[in-house]
Amino acid sequence: MPLISTKEMFKKAYEGNYAIGAFNVNNMEIIQGIVEAAMEEKAPLILQVSSGARKYANPVYLRKMVEAAVEVSGLPICLHLDHGDSFELCKSCIDGGFTSVMIDGSSLSYEDNIALTKKVVEYAHDTTNHPYVTVEGELGTLAGIEDEVQHEVGSYTKPEEVIDFVTRTGVDSLAIAIGTSHGAYKFTADQCTRDENGVLVPPPLRFDILEAVSEKLPGFPIVLHGSSSVPQNFVQIINANGGKMPDAVGIPEAQLRKAASMSVCKINIDSDLRLACTAGIRKHFNEHPEHFDPRQYLGDARANIKEIVRHKLVNVLGCAGKADEILGK
Ligand code: G3H
Ligand code: 13P
Ligand code: ZN
Repeated sequence: MPLISTKEMFKKAYEGNYAIGAFNVNNMEIIQGIVEAAMEEKAPLILQVSSGARKYANPVYLRKMVEAAVEVSGLPICLHLDHGDSFELCKSCIDGGFTSVMIDGSSLSYEDNIALTKKVVEYAHDTTNHPYVTVEGELGTLAGIEDEVQHEVGSYTKPEEVIDFVTRTGVDSLAIAIGTSHGAYKFTADQCTRDENGVLVPPPLRFDILEAVSEKLPGFPIVLHGSSSVPQNFVQIINANGGKMPDAVGIPEAQLRKAASMSVCKINIDSDLRLACTAGIRKHFNEHPEHFDPRQYLGDARANIKEIVRHKLVNVLGCAGKADEILGK
C-alpha cells in the first residue's frame, strides 16, 4: 500500500468530528513509538518532517523509514512536509515522494503569501509526473516563546480573508492562528493564571475565530499548529532527573478535543514527543548510570512516545479505530 495524501483522511475526519494527529519525526525511535501506538489503536497518521528534520536525518532516510512504517503497519499514513518555506523545498519533497506539503507563507505579505502558495498548489496538484499531493497553507501567525527567545507577537487569523485566500490559492487545508504556539513554553507566566498546585493555566483558545472561519468555509479542513499540551508528568520527570524546564506550559487537552470535534482535521504535535523522549532518557540515565547501550535508553524514550501518542489518539484526537474507514474497508 502506498503513502496517501490528506484528502480522504480530512474528508472522513471532518464528517466524523475527529482530527488526525500530525506528529513530527526525526529518527527511527520516534517513528516506531508513534506507529506502534497507532497500530494498537488502528489509527490513521500524518508523519511530518520539518526542514530541520531533513537536515538532521536526510530526506531519503526519513522517507524510507516512513515507507517501512506503512509496510509494517498497513495503516493509512501520509508523509507531510512541515513548514515548507519555499517553492523549491516543496518541489523537492513532492519529487521525493511526499504525499502532502505545507507552504508556510504566513510571514509574507497577504498578496505574496497567496502568490507563493498558489505556485506550490499548481505544482502539487499537477499529476503529470507524480500523484496528487495535498497542500496546506497558513493565514495568521503563531506567537510564543521557544528556547528562551521571545518570538514576535503573533496575529490571529482574520476570518474575512479566508474565502479569498482559499479560492485564489486552491489549497486543500488551512492552518489558522487562534492562540496556539510552538514549543514547550507557549505562554509567559504573566499571560496565565495558576491553579492550586502552582501550575500555569493558559488563556483559552479563540474558538470564536475558529467558528467564524468554519462558517465562511463550510466543510473545509482546518489545521492547528503548536498544539502540544506539555504534559506535566513528563516535565516533572525531566526536572526531577537533572533537567531544567520551569513553567513549561501547553494547550489544555480539553480545548484540543473540542477543536477536533469542530472543523479542525489536523493537529500538530512535536514538543510533547520531545518531552516524552527526554523524560525517558533522563530517568534512564539517573537510574542506570552504568548503561551505555543506546538501545536501553532509546528504548525507554520510544516507550514513552508510544504512551503519549496512544493517549492523544484515544482521548484528544478521537481518531482511534478510524484507519479502516479511511482505507475504505
Ligand atoms: O513547528 C515546528 C516543529 O516543531 C518542528 O521543529 O524545526 O525544530 O524540527 P524543528
Ligand atoms: P508543538 O511545538 O506545540 O508540538 O507544535 C508542533 C508544530 O506545530 C509542528 O508544525
Ligand atoms: Zn507548526
